[in-house]
Amino acid sequence: MQVPRKILMGGGPTNVHPRILSAQSLPMLGYFQEPLLAIMDEIQDGLRYLMQTESRYICLLGASGHAGMEAGIANLLEPGEKIVIINQGVWGWKAAQMARRYRGDVVEVCKEPGVACTLEELEELLATHKPAVLFICQGESSTGTLNDLSGLGQACHQHNTLLLVDAVCSIAGSPLFTDAWDIDCLYAGAQKCLSAPPGATPFMMSERAIHKLQNRRQPVACYLFDMELNGRYWNWWQERSVHNTGLITNWYAMREALAIVADEGLAAVWQRHSDMHHMLWQGLGQLGLQPLVKDPAHRLPCVNAIQVPPGVDARAVIDYAMKTYSLEIATGLPPLNTAIWRIGLLGYNAAPHNVALVTTAFREALQEQGYA
Ligand SMILES: Cc1ncc(COP(=O)(O)O)c(C=O)c1O
Repeated sequence: MQVPRKILMGGGPTNVHPRILSAQSLPMLGYFQEPLLAIMDEIQDGLRYLMQTESRYICLLGASGHAGMEAGIANLLEPGEKIVIINQGVWGWKAAQMARRYRGDVVEVCKEPGVACTLEELEELLATHKPAVLFICQGESSTGTLNDLSGLGQACHQHNTLLLVDAVCSIAGSPLFTDAWDIDCLYAGAQKCLSAPPGATPFMMSERAIHKLQNRRQPVACYLFDMELNGRYWNWWQERSVHNTGLITNWYAMREALAIVADEGLAAVWQRHSDMHHMLWQGLGQLGLQPLVKDPAHRLPCVNAIQVPPGVDARAVIDYAMKTYSLEIATGLPPLNTAIWRIGLLGYNAAPHNVALVTTAFREALQEQGYA
């Protein structure tokens, strides 16, 4: 099998770190073998550091980031209960679709693309609706928008609401403090700022979320991601049993990804994403390009949304970058489609030489179209 090499600078996946690629080819182990259980323990320690939490209810789910969304909604929400969903793009929209399938009473709050939420407006929503669950993305990758979550968990708990956060894109790319921000359920992505292959989704629950799970009136409708059953394999209840076969080689990959983050240090990883984001906008700004997100404090460093100037063919720029440099740049997702480009600065690829290449590709592609 031959697979061409590309430089992946879209919304994810990103190129996999070589250390992680080789970790994936290590020998297979059986369900309960000591070395595998030790690796699982180390993964949990690494995830606690990554998410900045002490929670023992932490694990990997066996599927891409959607698994976290499905598990979060299915376990936290009972049929008929109210859930407020902040829709700032595709991922909030999908969460609302999913919550309706779990028969939640969904209040979908749609924001203008590229506009973040304020704590005051979220507090008002909580006071009005008193939902069982509030869903929000820390980083909405379809529009490159970053929400500030500090104080939100405390506000949720005043109304007996559980806070469910999507950090698929933002994990390791922006500061995140699960315990200090009182987040009840958090899920992340492997293939973005962790530079791992897709497939193993980091997932965490607080004591409050576990209490809700253990006192449900009805069983969790999603059998695969019933966290009572998943938690048994991850030693949540002091006694191990297998629910489904682990994605064992993906676990090796995640173990290595977490070690790479720890080697560099979380604060340094966040800083590198921020530095590359500023370098990118310096270059794009010189070309006259504008960000979709107006407020610099709410620009997601790891996925950058760029407005396509009037008269420019967005698709031709993407094709130029791919043809000339094997460089992937992404379009927007519906409904923005070719109204924006998206540049990912994700993990291993968040490096100066890649940022310089992206800027060069834009300059040349725009010149080819006669854009001044
Ligand atoms: C913010 C966010 N949430 C959820 C997802 C879904 O993750 P996956 O495609 O890995 O299932 C993505 C993927 O891009 C994302 O960026």
